[in-house]
Amino acid sequence: MTANTASLMDFLDEENAQLKKEGRFVKFRVLCGRQAPVSLIDGKKVVNLTSNNYLDLTAHPKLKAAAKAVIDTHGVGTAAVRPIIGTMDIHLALEEKLARFKGAEACLVFQSGFTVNVACCQSLMSDPADLLVSDELNHASIIDGARLAKAARKIYAHKDMKALKEILEASSGARRRMIVTDGVFSMDGDLAPLPEIVDLAEKYEAFVMVDDAHASGVMGENGRGTPSHFGLCDRVQIQIGTLSKAAGSIGGYVAGSRRLIDYLASVARPFMFSSSHPPSVVATCSAAVDVMLEEPQRIAKLWENARHFKEGLKKLGFDTGASETPITPVIVGDAEKAQAFSSRLFEEGVFALAICYPIVARGKDRLRTIVSSGHTTQDLDFALEKFDKVGRELGLV
Ligand SMILES: Cc1ncc(COP(=O)(O)O)c(C=O)c1O
Repeated sequence: MTANTASLMDFLDEENAQLKKEGRFVKFRVLCGRQAPVSLIDGKKVVNLTSNNYLDLTAHPKLKAAAKAVIDTHGVGTAAVRPIIGTMDIHLALEEKLARFKGAEACLVFQSGFTVNVACCQSLMSDPADLLVSDELNHASIIDGARLAKAARKIYAHKDMKALKEILEASSGARRRMIVTDGVFSMDGDLAPLPEIVDLAEKYEAFVMVDDAHASGVMGENGRGTPSHFGLCDRVQIQIGTLSKAAGSIGGYVAGSRRLIDYLASVARPFMFSSSHPPSVVATCSAAVDVMLEEPQRIAKLWENARHFKEGLKKLGFDTGASETPITPVIVGDAEKAQAFSSRLFEEGVFALAICYPIVARGKDRLRTIVSSGHTTQDLDFALEKFDKVGRELGLV
């Protein structure tokens, strides 16, 4: 090994050892076959409470057929970024469909929810005279987008509207102010107080960006998201959605005014400098929107399952935090115990991931559970029985 390679290896060994010590070293669980409500993971059949497959669309016949058919007409890749020659007719058709779905003038699809958040923060908050105001529990992609933005940043305590008001009151000199919030918070499953946020934005002439990664396909009419849920579609300027969770495929999008979309298409760096979705992804996402409109029973079943599971956990004596959606944390409060809980449940046939500090605050270590419309009551009751058994074993209930 050359000296420069050896020094890099030393550095990586030290870093990896530290990550292991802190319990942050990632080891993959491996899905064998499709993402399903009951999946084969690491060779074991388990009730899967860990994916974002809210509507069980990852193997829906219409999505699979759409992906297969478009390969014959459009091939398997675009081999270009969107502004060069990576925009196909099907990309534009999907954007028109998503804009209609969101009740917006226009829409732009990105490679992922992560990139669309980064792009919007970076592109819209491009000057040190701007101010980006963000909830402390917003997703990592918003945090990174804010870091890339040239704007000043202010973080308010989670859902603290008094703190948000104070920030807005004290920043009247800013050139432009953007309030950014998750619609559904990904670790706690609680909702942003969107009506209050929108009122404050209007009072202080700020604009609002809502990341509905976990609300797309879940909240509002046919899964249109939290602005639809609260009746605020015409008062939220920037609606972010994902195609990677309930839609069962991959991608993110921003819906809003034609002017917003034209601007982003010309300046958003991840959009401009990274190649576009292959046809199979585009067709899958388009079919997913159709299914959301045609099969609202999936969303109804998702919520029925969420209520059943949440109530079951509460009855068993678990702390499910502030959850109001199908994301239900089971707060354990200690990283080692949370890891042990997750491992024992897996042995018993239930997969619920442990999420520990620093992803969540110290003392808020937890298992995060997400039900799907595809779970049967028997699946969920089986999982509840195992939560009870292992929870007692570990002295958690
Ligand atoms: C709140 C939130 N926003 C954005 C993302 C990123 O979405 P994607 O997986 O499409 O990149 C996630 C995914 O974990 C998320 O939870």
